[in-house]
Amino acid sequence: MSDVRVPIRVFPSRPTLEGAGVRLRRAFGYYEVPQFDPFLLLDDIHSLDPEDYTAGFPWHPHRGIETVTYVIHGEVEHGDSIGNRGDIRDGDVQWMTAGSGIIHQEMPHRIEGDMRGLQLWVNLPASHKMMEPRYRDVPAETIPAVTLEDGTVIKVIAGRYDGTEGPVKDIVRSPEYLDVSVPPHTSFTRSTEPGHTVFAYVLDGEASFGPGGTDPAGPDSVVLFGKGDRVAVRASGKGVRFLLISGEPLGEPVAWRGPIVMNSQEELDLAFREYREGTFIKSG
Ligand code: FE2
Repeated sequence: MSDVRVPIRVFPSRPTLEGAGVRLRRAFGYYEVPQFDPFLLLDDIHSLDPEDYTAGFPWHPHRGIETVTYVIHGEVEHGDSIGNRGDIRDGDVQWMTAGSGIIHQEMPHRIEGDMRGLQLWVNLPASHKMMEPRYRDVPAETIPAVTLEDGTVIKVIAGRYDGTEGPVKDIVRSPEYLDVSVPPHTSFTRSTEPGHTVFAYVLDGEASFGPGGTDPAGPDSVVLFGKGDRVAVRASGKGVRFLLISGEPLGEPVAWRGPIVMNSQEELDLAFREYREGTFIKSG
């Protein structure tokens, strides 16, 4: 018996000001906890105007989370307290385990044309909140793409599609992260683990996400699915490109202030005190 997941919430990402004045769209975040558990936040920078993003995200701390940054078009320079420096650009992915603490900056460069980059925050379980921080760049050419007979293309960033495994393997919660492009009037079905949280975020085009008759969702729509064991997508005449992300919920208390996400208020207070006193960084 298989059940197609029905969308239980469909809503647009919201204009949000972040960092030193970056105008981005937030798909979900603080106010949606715990609906997207184990995911905490998805931010989408998408603009033709460099004034919207070049202020960037100067030095700031993180603790208790992992982030997956996916630059679809553009160039983001980063540097951090464990000695990493570099640029992520056009199709590259970078993941970071903040663990016990990292201080970094993320600075988008001015480019011609459409800048687009997404950052997903994945929560760490209580047992791993204070793990050793780590950071890795994943170049675009190492991200495999599976092309189906009907023209659908699935880029596998994390997890596995049939026999193809994505290069982002070390996120503690082992999420599945696919970038799926479906041609016009074409259907796409994906099995999902029962009990996992599953959502889609529409990058471009339009599709119905769910059993037949579901209203189509367009660009910047967030689709959170209910229970079931698969997702069914039907692209409209424009075709569709969306992120399909899933993971096993943690079911733990969330204490969240700014860039730090722990399990209790005491742990948050300690983190901010350590940051003020210069004892935040534990290693590296
Ligand atoms: Fe950050």
